Amino acid sequence: MEKREYMPIAVFVSGRGTNLQAIIDAINKGKLKTEIKLVLSNTSKAYALERARKYNIPTKVIPSKKFKNPLEWGEKLIEVVKESGVDLVVLAGFMKILPPNFISAFPNKIINIHPSILPAFKGLSAQEQAFNYGVKYTGCTVHIVTEKLDEGPIIAQAVVPVLPNDNANTLANRILKYEHKIYPQVIQWFAEK
Ligand code: GRF
Repeated sequence: MEKREYMPIAVFVSGRGTNLQAIIDAINKGKLKTEIKLVLSNTSKAYALERARKYNIPTKVIPSKKFKNPLEWGEKLIEVVKESGVDLVVLAGFMKILPPNFISAFPNKIINIHPSILPAFKGLSAQEQAFNYGVKYTGCTVHIVTEKLDEGPIIAQAVVPVLPNDNANTLANRILKYEHKIYPQVIQWFAEK
């Protein structure tokens, strides 16, 4: 098999795209040997798409609501990802639950970042959940995506303290800085096999 220096990846987004930006920055600094072949969003409103366009990265918007059911949406996503020829799908703030046919089409090749120390605080607003619970430490987790939401083998975690004057926002911002460190690092581990 041809040995490629740069592992091709797709990044799935729905929002502001700071994790996408961290990946792009790591590539540009030469720390991450990957090439983003595709940035895919389920909504045209994602600011992440603008970030991608600025670097001439191909983008696609495939809203789930345009399809009769989640499996048809999944078929379309499978087609697009196969076409792009990527080795890894990186979920970076992708806010739609992926259909089971998509997940089983790419076993161990879809990763996600979640803003808590899983298995604590699954689901939405994990930083706020942690803050409201009163934990003294929380953080972020990169894991393989399986059919169960925010489960799947854990690859890396960063622990982040909750400080006395924090609110949910300051805490979320502190966690985000660690997300931006560990996500590019994990992708680089995949590139190094
Ligand atoms: C991050 O907090 C990530 O952990 C979660 O969604 C958020 C995405 O942020 N899955 P951004 O769009 O990368 O800025």
